[in-house]
Amino acid sequence: MTDKKDIILFGPGKIGQALCEQLVNAIDRYYLPLRITAIVDSSGYVHNAAGFTPEQLQKLINAKNEGAPLRTLPESNNTAAIAQHFDLNTILIDTSNAQALYPVLLKGLKKGCSLVMCNKNNLIQPWPVAEPFYSSANVGYESTVCAGTPVIAALRNLVSGFDDVEYIEGCLSGTLNYIFSALEQDLSYAQAIENAHMLGYTEPDPRDDLNGMDTARKALIMARTVGWPLELDDIEVESLYPEEFHAYTKDQFFQRLKRLNGYTQQLRQQAMAESMTLRYVSAVNPNGGFCQLKAVARDSEYGLLDNTANKLMIHSRVHNHIPLMIAGAGAGAEITALGLMADLLNLAGI
Ligand SMILES: NC(=O)c1ccc[n+]([C@@H]2O[C@H](COP(=O)([O-])OP(=O)(O)OC[C@H]3O[C@@H](n4cnc5c(N)ncnc54)[C@H](OP(=O)(O)O)[C@@H]3O)[C@@H](O)[C@H]2O)c1
Repeated sequence: MTDKKDIILFGPGKIGQALCEQLVNAIDRYYLPLRITAIVDSSGYVHNAAGFTPEQLQKLINAKNEGAPLRTLPESNNTAAIAQHFDLNTILIDTSNAQALYPVLLKGLKKGCSLVMCNKNNLIQPWPVAEPFYSSANVGYESTVCAGTPVIAALRNLVSGFDDVEYIEGCLSGTLNYIFSALEQDLSYAQAIENAHMLGYTEPDPRDDLNGMDTARKALIMARTVGWPLELDDIEVESLYPEEFHAYTKDQFFQRLKRLNGYTQQLRQQAMAESMTLRYVSAVNPNGGFCQLKAVARDSEYGLLDNTANKLMIHSRVHNHIPLMIAGAGAGAEITALGLMADLLNLAGI
């Protein structure tokens, strides 16, 4: 048996590739006892028991970036067989956007693998389904909230120190923060959304940010981390576009974007008249929470946030007069990969 930990990466997309790059550099520079032994996409996987060389890894990534599913490569395997490579020495990394990985990741946990993920899908399942991922000491999910900004680590520290978290509040969406701070530059709502999309800050379909659900998922993950077994339904979510826009295709949505200008107009004018500004604010407590567009003072903790920044305030028994505040970049491949890397090294005991 080798003293190296085997890494199996599910999801060689933007974040997965950024992590591979950081890993290859760190393994080389710090002689880390780690090796990447399998890459898995939605079509199949490629395995190398000795660990991929940087050149082999780059070849796989190049193939993916040229649009080739892994199953089309001669050395590929059927995903159903991946669990044969799981043992106590294995670290599974989920940088995919898949829901379908739940059974295979759970199987990994049961076989004693460690698991690191930035994919929120398993953590937002109904509580009895998601619970094993929260209760296992072998799971890290720092990058699911505020990219790699260490929010989950802070919450876990409070819990393990027997502090009682009472209330968590914050601006949790880098994309929505970009859009609403851009309105202060006299852009229309439609222009701000379009700019955010062009800069790559939104999901491919911006409605996936504007419907508030991604933010609600982050709020749910934080709540569950501090021991509140809430469900998504316990969080009231305000969508930032009207109901009728649900039915459009992505192209139709963009064609009708200007019609959204009226949607936030009244709130925006009212806020401006009172020297306030708009921010998408989320909050959770043991009983539930909300994600809502709110007017906040321009010089407040949230009003001063610009670009894709996130800010979080944690109120607890100990952090009561002054909440524990965490701010940082809320999106981006490099910072998300950094959070994954921190979890990975932690679980590998390095
Ligand atoms: N971007 C950010 O700042 C950020 C921050 C925090 C968290 N995240 C999360 O990070 C994850 C990845 O984001 P991304 O931007 O890297 O997405 P992406 O570029 O679309 O990559 C997704 C990857 O997942 C793979 N995949 C899909 N289904 C799979 C399956 N069943 N098994 C294995 N692999 C599968 C896809 O492979 P195929 O080519 O086969 O479809 C693709 O390689 C998402 O869950 C996202 O929510 C992103």
